[in-house]
This record gives sequence, C-alpha cells and structure tokens, in this order.
Amino acid sequence: MKILITGGAGFIGSHFAVKMLKEQHEVAIIDNLHPYYSVERKKQHLHIIKEAGEYPFYRNDLLNRDETISLIKKVSPDVIVHLAALPGVAYSILRPLEYIDYDVKATVNVLEGAGQAGVKQVLFASSSSVYGMMKNKPFKEEMACGKPISPYAASKYAAESFCHVYGRLYGMDVTILRFFTVYGPWGRPDMAIANFLKKAKNKEAITIFGEGGTRDYTYVGDIVNGMALALQKLQQSAILNIGSGRPISMNQLLDELKLYYPDLKIQRENHRAGDVDNTWADISLARELLGYEPETDFKQGIAKTVAWAERYADFL
Ligand SMILES: NC(=O)c1ccc[n+]([C@@H]2O[C@H](COP(=O)([O-])OP(=O)(O)OC[C@H]3O[C@@H](n4cnc5c(N)ncnc54)[C@H](O)[C@@H]3O)[C@@H](O)[C@H]2O)c1
Repeated sequence: MKILITGGAGFIGSHFAVKMLKEQHEVAIIDNLHPYYSVERKKQHLHIIKEAGEYPFYRNDLLNRDETISLIKKVSPDVIVHLAALPGVAYSILRPLEYIDYDVKATVNVLEGAGQAGVKQVLFASSSSVYGMMKNKPFKEEMACGKPISPYAASKYAAESFCHVYGRLYGMDVTILRFFTVYGPWGRPDMAIANFLKKAKNKEAITIFGEGGTRDYTYVGDIVNGMALALQKLQQSAILNIGSGRPISMNQLLDELKLYYPDLKIQRENHRAGDVDNTWADISLARELLGYEPETDFKQGIAKTVAWAERYADFL
C-alpha cells in the first residue's frame, strides 16, 4: 500500500512510518518541521525512519493549499494518514487562531487534495479531548457532543466535521481515530510523562496542576497498531477510540516514576484551564471492528520510556 503520512516527522508519525516501512509498505512524508518543539528532534525522528527504509520527504506547510493539493496528486497515495497538527491544550489557550489554521484549515486542504487525487481512505488523528468534561465514563464514541473545553479540542472537533463533509463530497472512507494521551520513547516534550522524565533526570521539580486527574495513557506501540489495523480492516467510514481502556491516576503515575527516580520533587499549582479532569476510553468498538487490543501495560510502557530517556537524554 502507498501511504502518505502528514506530520510524519512528529512523535506518532515517526513511529507509524517505521512500522509501515518494516511491513514493506511504500511511505511518503509531508511535514513542515514546525518549531512547536525542537526541530532538531524532528530531524532525528526522520533519521530514525530512514533506518527502517527509504521514503520521499516533502517539507511543505499544509496551509499552502495549492502546493498541498498538487503534492498529494503527485504522490497519488492509496491512503493518507493525516497526523499533522499543532498539538497541546495549554498553548491553544494562548494562541487559539493558530489552531484554526493548523488543525482545521490544514485538514480541509488535505481532505480536498485527497478527494481530487482519488485517495481511497483518509485516516484522521483526532483526540480524546473532543469529549470535554464528561460525567459518564468510559467515553463511548457517540458521547462527544460538541462541548470541548479548549481551542485545541474545539479545532479537532471541527476538523472531524470537515472529515464527514469531504468523505461524503468525494465518496472516500474517512476514519477518525480518537487517540488517548499517547506516551512512549520519543514522546512529545510538552506532555506530562516526557516532561517529568526530563525534570527528574535534571533533578528539577515537576509541576502537578490541580489534583492531577486520571488519564487513559496509551503506549505509542498500541496507537500505531490501532492505526495499521484501521488501514487493513476498515472498508467504511468510522469514528473509533484508540486508547488503553485503563485510566491511570496521577498518584499511580508518580509511584511508577519514583521506582526509577526516588528523589522526584513535586510542586503543585492550581488547575490549568483547558485540561479535562479525567479520560477513559471505551475501546469496545475498536475491538469489534479492528480486533484492536492494547498490548503494553502501563508498567512495561513506563519501563520502555525510562530506558529511552536514559539513552537519549540529549533529546529530552
Ligand atoms: N500525542 C498525543 O497524546 C495525541 C493525543 C491525541 C491526538 N493526537 C494527535 O495526533 C497527531 C500527532 O501528534 P504528535 O503527538 O505526534 O504531535 P507532533 O507535534 O509530534 O507531530 C505533528 C507533526 O505535524 C507537523 N505539522 C504541524 N503543522 C503542519 C503543517 N501545517 N504542515 C505540515 N506539517 C505540519 C509538525 O511539524 C509535527 O512534526 C496530532 O494530530 C495530534 O493532535 C496526539
């Protein structure tokens, strides 16, 4: 299969590209190497992908509509895996308009390009944040009702709507996968686990906002398995949660990290605007339609992530 990955120089994209190349698929990557976090880190991701196989890399900003559409036509992939976005809840409160650009307009450009190029399936990376503050748990796909609590989440929800629009306009299958808090080697430096590991190694205090809540932390290997299954097995449009189905409290996370860094220092601050208190994925639909099953439990996942942090301290 010929797979075009947008955002392939990022955390999830690089893991997915490696997996696809190892499975003998043809891969092409579009990424603008956005400086949301270290561009050097993104170049390192691209280097790691190269070790798994050759692929063309296009440094293109998906906001350039004409270039994006003609690039997609030129590559002419069977499927597009659209991961490119500006991530991060906290930053989205500061810069909401950038999220309308990077997470909504860029997605519309990709969908238009996919439609014009006759792409069979577009897989869109959405987020557990679209559920907002939910009383009922675990979150089932139909529970998202357009009440997100951050500009990031609102942009993802809006982008999901555009996925429905373009799927219908062009008769292509659009698969919306809602990822739940992804962690693992090369995890994004602005996210809790990678940030805590860096601080622990530097003997700085980590910051916990409010009670810290609970998160359905999902190991990146499980996320990319779910993505691969969605490309292999789905012959229809769908919205699916891809998570671990097992929420972890902040105290459980801290206890796990203290096994490696017993002197971990903690400072507490008020609850941060935009953060949901708890997330918990109901993964029964992904189980049923894809045969998806998370394989890496939290203990193993943290062990692998700590081993990576010890080895690649310069990149933290
Ligand atoms: N990491 C998570 O926990 C998580 C959870 C839910 C959803 N997601 C979604 O999954 C996707 C990948 O997340 P990630 O954690 O790998 O983020 P990431 O920031 O590591 O990767 C995103 C990549 O997209 C690129 N990009 C951004 N805007 C672009 C543009 N206009 N043109 C071309 N490239 C552009 C960036 O340079 C970056 O390499 C994102 O859509 C994110 O919102 C991530």
